[in-house]
Amino acid sequence: MSTVDPQRRVLSGMRPSGRLHLGHYHGVLKNWVKLQHEYECFFCIVDWHALTTDYDDVGNIAQHVSDMAVDWLAAGVSPSSANMFIQSQVPEHAELHLLLSMICPLSWLERVPSYKEQQDQLHHKDLGTYGFLGYPLLQAADILLYRAGLVPVGSDQLPHIEFAREVARRFNHLYGREPGFEAKAEAAILRLGKKTAKLYNSLRKAFQEQGDTEALDTARALLKEVQSITLGDKERLFGYLEGGGKVLLPEPHALLSEAPKMAGLDGGKMATSHFKGGNSNAIFLRDTPAEVEDKLRRMPTDPARVHRDDPGEPSRCPVWQLHEVYSDEPTLHWVQQGCRSAGIGCIDCKGPLIEAVQAELKPLQLRALDYQDSPEVVRNILAEGAERARDEARETLIDVRAALGLNYR
Ligand code: TRP
Ligand code: SF4
Repeated sequence: MSTVDPQRRVLSGMRPSGRLHLGHYHGVLKNWVKLQHEYECFFCIVDWHALTTDYDDVGNIAQHVSDMAVDWLAAGVSPSSANMFIQSQVPEHAELHLLLSMICPLSWLERVPSYKEQQDQLHHKDLGTYGFLGYPLLQAADILLYRAGLVPVGSDQLPHIEFAREVARRFNHLYGREPGFEAKAEAAILRLGKKTAKLYNSLRKAFQEQGDTEALDTARALLKEVQSITLGDKERLFGYLEGGGKVLLPEPHALLSEAPKMAGLDGGKMATSHFKGGNSNAIFLRDTPAEVEDKLRRMPTDPARVHRDDPGEPSRCPVWQLHEVYSDEPTLHWVQQGCRSAGIGCIDCKGPLIEAVQAELKPLQLRALDYQDSPEVVRNILAEGAERARDEARETLIDVRAALGLNYR
């Protein structure tokens, strides 16, 4: 039984869609870069998920994967802090997906909101496939495979995380405790040392025989302080207090990242979800300074501000949303004043923004240089990430197989 602390472990995934843009950076990647120093992080390029919708257009997957990996690295995901890897290079994702499919009711999959939504949105495509229906279960397997307690995602993913929780709960309910739980718990008690063991036993008895909840609280506090036993034993003893077992697949929770509202270049959303249409309206992390300038200059503004003399209203202008992300107070003030009084033109208004975006992207692009012309370096990083991920995944599968009776040793 592995001794993972799910509350210290983060997993997230991104569909390989090619080059990433500012929406990804502010909505997701900046958060990952922060998390990698605080948690044990697994960041997965979910190429199998791409196949669930793009099975008829597979020619670009490898290129999209490597572009995405370079952009992660450019954004500051560090291979020495986080494990970044390709889903299909860890085939254990498929095994867990298959095993979970045995217990996953069809109706649960059919009522995940994205199922019908995406079918409607991508109506030109036949998404009446087995793989597409199973999309959320594959995602659940991604998470549960690492016993990750924390999943940084945007709010659009909340139903998927809730679904993963339900699957975990059902699995734990059906297969309950690890094999030989009681004996292992008793052995763990002995390892507490004589005094603590005695106290633990009497508190446990008080709770189980007299329903003394104060004793339960005291026992929990006692266990928290204990340093002499492994995390796995500790979890067993927490479970043993109430008669339950150590949970096989911990229930994950979303770590909601606050994605700033970021306008796309056409005034629509700079979509972070690749379901949601093209990325042609975005500034890419590896756009040159000239491209950044050109795209921002062409970006539409307040539609009511037709002539230079017409006053404008920032709240109607997509450029303003970018200012809110990039500009300091004095600049924001200058924009509002200047726009509403027609004191500044839209090209003036965009000036500081162009500079800010170019300055932000500069260090990313410098880092990207290290990788974009050395595909073998990126390949190695992903291969090493997959190796480390597999080590963890194998541990989980040993327990899962045993729980399902697939125990042939
Ligand atoms: N479904 C996610 C999206 O579209 C991608 C994803 C796949 C994912 N597996 C995951 C996200 C596991 C978090 C955890 O954005
Ligand atoms: Fe938008 Fe700025 Fe032009 Fe006002 S001045 S409409 S905020 S670009």
